[in-house]
Amino acid sequence: MYDPTDDNMDILSESSRSAMSDSSLDRFPPRSESSQTSHDWEMRSASPQPSVYSMTSSLRQAAYKQEYGRDLNNYSDVYQLPADEQELRRLDHQHYMFKRAMGKYPPPMDEVLADDPEHPKVVVDLGCGSGGWILDVARDYPHCSAIAIDLVPMQTLNLPPNCRSEVDDINLGLQHYFGAFDVAHARLICTGIRDYAGLVDHISHALRPGGMLQLTEYNFVIHDKHKKRIEIVPHQEGVELTGPWLPRWMSLAQQAIRTRGGEVEAADHLARWVREHGAFEEVQPRQFWFQASPWNKGTDSASKEANEIAKIMRDDLLQFFESGKPLLLGSGIPQDLVDIVEANARKELLDAETPLYILIEDVYARKQRD
Ligand SMILES: C[S@@+](CC[C@H](N)C(=O)[O-])C[C@H]1O[C@@H](n2cnc3c(N)ncnc32)[C@H](O)[C@@H]1O
Repeated sequence: MYDPTDDNMDILSESSRSAMSDSSLDRFPPRSESSQTSHDWEMRSASPQPSVYSMTSSLRQAAYKQEYGRDLNNYSDVYQLPADEQELRRLDHQHYMFKRAMGKYPPPMDEVLADDPEHPKVVVDLGCGSGGWILDVARDYPHCSAIAIDLVPMQTLNLPPNCRSEVDDINLGLQHYFGAFDVAHARLICTGIRDYAGLVDHISHALRPGGMLQLTEYNFVIHDKHKKRIEIVPHQEGVELTGPWLPRWMSLAQQAIRTRGGEVEAADHLARWVREHGAFEEVQPRQFWFQASPWNKGTDSASKEANEIAKIMRDDLLQFFESGKPLLLGSGIPQDLVDIVEANARKELLDAETPLYILIEDVYARKQRD
């Protein structure tokens, strides 16, 4: 899928941005410190009139950097997880797991995207990753346009004709998309977002009346068997490290994400931000509990299914320890600490004896009709 030598892969970019007249922009202004693209508007895409040009080796070199043996995006100082083949594969498996546990789309999706030749529908995935979600949308709703936005171009070859990939840093704001979309989706992007409430505000402007928003996030907290938050005391020099280890690894990730400027607690506030914003109605928060490993001893079908999904989650977490290295080490967390915590967390997950839960927060809502 990912071929760094392929010069023929097209990405979409553009030469102009729409005029910015809305006063709410002050809330979510471009920030020069958030990204290298913030002073390089030429890198930005701007629907709805993009131009297409080929991605040359030099463009690709500019798009990626190598850190701790992994390829990362080269634009955002905030988002420090890889964007290489290993990570894209992890995201594909994760997408399958989410579909199996959460269903494919929120209930209003069909109604919002009903075919209306006079008003062609447009869907955006903000921070699309490997593109699992937006590619499903492009195939399931062939009459719609599907736009995949990320810090790096989507690596899928043979995009469906109604799907396109745009390179953009969401932290710079969505002004150039205002009024452009019928559905806006974002999943697990908080690690790269500086001002998530500001993003919710910009999505409210990017959506058309009656359009749908779906946000799904995780706060890097682990819960015990009673679904109670496990609080981790930060490690102090000279004090013996103790488990549970997955929560400890996640607390290191939290620390690193905060250091980079990402809004790691976004999941805790999603529903409130959407409800209190004022532009949305029919706000539906949902919570999805995932076992971190197949520790469930139950023999009923629900327990068995939970264990099957947990096997995918466990593999995802084992991969995520690898993905997290540039983030943790690049944020100043000592290598020996990361190594000890990771080795113990791996064992904990593989033993599958410690009952640990991950809570995924989700909210969907409609933009008020005029
Ligand atoms: C953990 S991945 C999740 C990908 C996808 N949403 C999914 O659920 O499979 C986060 C993605 O968000 C993208 N991302 C993070 N911050 C971003 C930003 N400020 N602008 C654009 N994309 C961003 C990353 O590049 C990465 O591909």
